[in-house]
Amino acid sequence: MARTLTATMRAVAVTPKQAGSARQVELPVPRVAAEMALMRVLEVGIDGTDTEINDGLYGEAPPGFDFLVIGHEALSIVESVGEGVDGFEPGDLVVSTVRRPDDCPNCRAGESDMCLFGNYTERGIKGAHGYMGEYYGESPAFMVKIPPSLRPFAVLLEPLSIVEKATYQAWKIQERMLWAPKRAVVLGAGPIGLLGTILLRLRGLEVHVYAKSPPESSQGRILSSLGASYRSVGDHPVTSIKDELGQIDVILEATGNSAVAFQAMAQLGTNGVLCLTGVSAGNRSIEIPADVINLQMVLGNRVTFGSVNANRRYFEMGVQHFQQAERQWPGIFQRLITRRVPFADFTSALDRRPEDIKTLLTIAAA
Ligand code: BGC
Ligand code: ZN
Repeated sequence: MARTLTATMRAVAVTPKQAGSARQVELPVPRVAAEMALMRVLEVGIDGTDTEINDGLYGEAPPGFDFLVIGHEALSIVESVGEGVDGFEPGDLVVSTVRRPDDCPNCRAGESDMCLFGNYTERGIKGAHGYMGEYYGESPAFMVKIPPSLRPFAVLLEPLSIVEKATYQAWKIQERMLWAPKRAVVLGAGPIGLLGTILLRLRGLEVHVYAKSPPESSQGRILSSLGASYRSVGDHPVTSIKDELGQIDVILEATGNSAVAFQAMAQLGTNGVLCLTGVSAGNRSIEIPADVINLQMVLGNRVTFGSVNANRRYFEMGVQHFQQAERQWPGIFQRLITRRVPFADFTSALDRRPEDIKTLLTIAAA
């Protein structure tokens, strides 16, 4: 479709480090070079990072801008492609990855999620505009094609990619020993905790989820459909998990609460692995039972590791697991989408309500 230079589009932007600054901005529709595609955004998922950015805790504008277009979880449709683009055509559904490489060896090898220099950018988060607008320009290297059958929930691919990486890395780390994990604990029942539970159940583990919501919440019902147990931390504190369950082989920390991360270290079983995924933007100090944790880590060969972001390999794994999980638990992913908000109400989409699992901002109808 021919577009004039003056075509503009709506987007949602913040002034980084300024709380509550989310507002609508008008930007030119990107003009894409021959080796790029123009993406039309259908819907954008909102997560804790977006809320923290809008709370002024996180986020960085691109060079030359004093605002940042937010949004890093988008399902889009290819509007047009430059003549140098192979493998994509108008009408294809796409989810883009988030991080853009610097020139460190890992980034150059396609593993920008393991960046060494830290000069990467992240769309909608750090130094690059995101997807919460009508259009964006993209290189095929960062576009992941989505089969049309996944349209109703493919917007969850970015958060799924985060737990794809986390679980893949946990298993990779455990190749250090003979390891036959049976029992996993997931801390937190937000999108990361629930998607993590799906992946751990697909790997055949018994999964116990500890979180704040009451058992009769929709999170509790989703977890019981998955054959996972759900325990409310009101009655089952994190500090007594191992007394309740016994040997725990894997813990996935998905609350974003750094105190819980340290409590979890003391709950891990012999030869167990704890994966931390929470980005805690604050500056909190706590007291911890350092001797006990240290002794257990040593005597039980335990590992705690952090995992951030995901390169396209993990998005591709996510596409496979979407299909596998839908066969096993039809409709499971759509149950995670609890609120769809029209573009005009973006401020309400950025509010977090206790009953929310995943909120989507609808940008275009089809
Ligand atoms: C995003 C990641 C990103 C991380 C840190 C998360 O919300 O999903 O892609 O690397 O924030 O900025
Ligand atoms: Zn790098």
